[in-house]
Amino acid sequence: MSAPLNTSSVWRDLQQHRQSWEGVTLRQLFQDDPQRARNFSAEACGLYLDYSKHLINPETLRLLITLARARHLEERRAAMFAGERINRTEGRAAFHVALRAPKGHVMRTAGVDVVPEVHKVLDHMAAFTRSIHDGTWRGATGQPIRKIINIGIGGSYLGPEMAWKALRPYRHPGMELGFIANVDGATFTDVTAHLDPAETLFIVSSKTFTTLETMTNAQQARHWVTSALGEAAVARHFVAVSTNVEAVEAFGMDTGHMFGFWDWVGGRYSMDSAIGLSTMLGVGVEHFTAMLAGFHAMDNHFQTAPLEQNLPVLMGLLALWYNNFWGAQTLAILPYAHDLARFPAYLQQLQMESNGKGVDEDGQPVAVDTGAIIWGEPGTDGQHSFYQLIHQGTRLIPCDFIGFCQPLSPLAEQHELLMANLIAQAEALAFGKAAEELRAEGVAEALVPFRVFPGNRPSSVLLGDRLDPHTLGALVALYEHSVFTQGVIWGIDSFDQWGVELGKALAQRIVAELQSTARHPHDASTATLLQRYLQRRGG
Ligand code: F6P
Repeated sequence: MSAPLNTSSVWRDLQQHRQSWEGVTLRQLFQDDPQRARNFSAEACGLYLDYSKHLINPETLRLLITLARARHLEERRAAMFAGERINRTEGRAAFHVALRAPKGHVMRTAGVDVVPEVHKVLDHMAAFTRSIHDGTWRGATGQPIRKIINIGIGGSYLGPEMAWKALRPYRHPGMELGFIANVDGATFTDVTAHLDPAETLFIVSSKTFTTLETMTNAQQARHWVTSALGEAAVARHFVAVSTNVEAVEAFGMDTGHMFGFWDWVGGRYSMDSAIGLSTMLGVGVEHFTAMLAGFHAMDNHFQTAPLEQNLPVLMGLLALWYNNFWGAQTLAILPYAHDLARFPAYLQQLQMESNGKGVDEDGQPVAVDTGAIIWGEPGTDGQHSFYQLIHQGTRLIPCDFIGFCQPLSPLAEQHELLMANLIAQAEALAFGKAAEELRAEGVAEALVPFRVFPGNRPSSVLLGDRLDPHTLGALVALYEHSVFTQGVIWGIDSFDQWGVELGKALAQRIVAELQSTARHPHDASTATLLQRYLQRRGG
């Protein structure tokens, strides 16, 4: 058992170093070092990271990198790329990096090179996608398939939905995707309201193929299809994506139309596996392949770049710096791209399910705070809503601004306005507006305190050239490895998710009570809620 993290000498050095930041301003730091923007920026895989507006100096970075080395980040990274069972509590590798390895690369886990198997599935997905696009695969009545509905939740949903929106300009003509995740029947009703079963294909996506929400919605979809087209239509209107062949068979689905993946792919790391089938159908084989190449490029960068210039490492360390040494509880993800509207939600699962842990890998309580709360909305919408608190509130909220130099909309002038806002927000947060400046502008004295912007509010700016498939892959892999970096330093298992189990089990018990006369002992609050629901549910 290792000593608590906060008793290590480098942790203490960082705590002490943090004290030296009292009274230091970003204004001063930029004045003192005209090269600061250059010195605190890095670039990889088409993504430029400006991290100069952070409350850091060379000593901060030196200490954070010393911490990363002391926590064996490089060795743990090597273990991940070597397919070792780094997900200890589930006894599995976390080998998502193998999903985007090009053909011919060798990536072994448990002594087996998995790359040929990965490409066999990718080729199967590609053949299926082409058969839908060229009309070789048709629905039961002979109509071409035009609507793809992914039924899945969590990691079997968030990535595909995020990518479908993010890659809007790259969509295959004539294809429409929809998503059913929530067990709320309203989702099913809403998504299927204007669909024609004859031209609709359902992809039932579930790693385990046991998830209540997904199985319930899949049964509903089956009923919806068979009541319109008959039982025989199932084979033409349903395919499965899963690691669980037996459960797919038990569900009555043809395993010949099943796309597999492996237990070493965590749900939230699976959008580039067969879980991405809807993405491939939505944007085509070539764009999906370009996205995988973007993931792979960032994997290479993470694996080989010196820690000091390594984008995922830098972003992970910066997040940890505020989380553990400045008391920041959240990280705002602020994409200045309408098409990245679901990116904050995607990162919520990636980061909060991975690093929302209270015990370390030895099962001991962690001595420091772990994963931050991730949230955000696209700019400029957020500016007219919650930015007030980021600018003038009492909390420190580090922000990740994400933007692109080239517009993907024909309305290029609007892109200028969008990007001007991104750049201005990062500037305003860092440098604020002082009372003297307000007075010099003639602001009435009584209003000065209200109009002061304290500044010193840290942010990263990530700039890509355009939001294309390659860049999206690189961006996702960047955050995956940043999450990994933080998890390694905290010494937690970033690849399990036991915290979702209790609620699931209790819900099953309550379902039994709602559907029968069975009664279980509950606390007074739960019992009262149940009783009220039973009395008033109607029907
Ligand atoms: O929320 C828990 C979880 O297990 C996630 O990790 C996963 O992405 C999601 O449920 C869906 O699981 P499955 O793909 O097995 O249906």
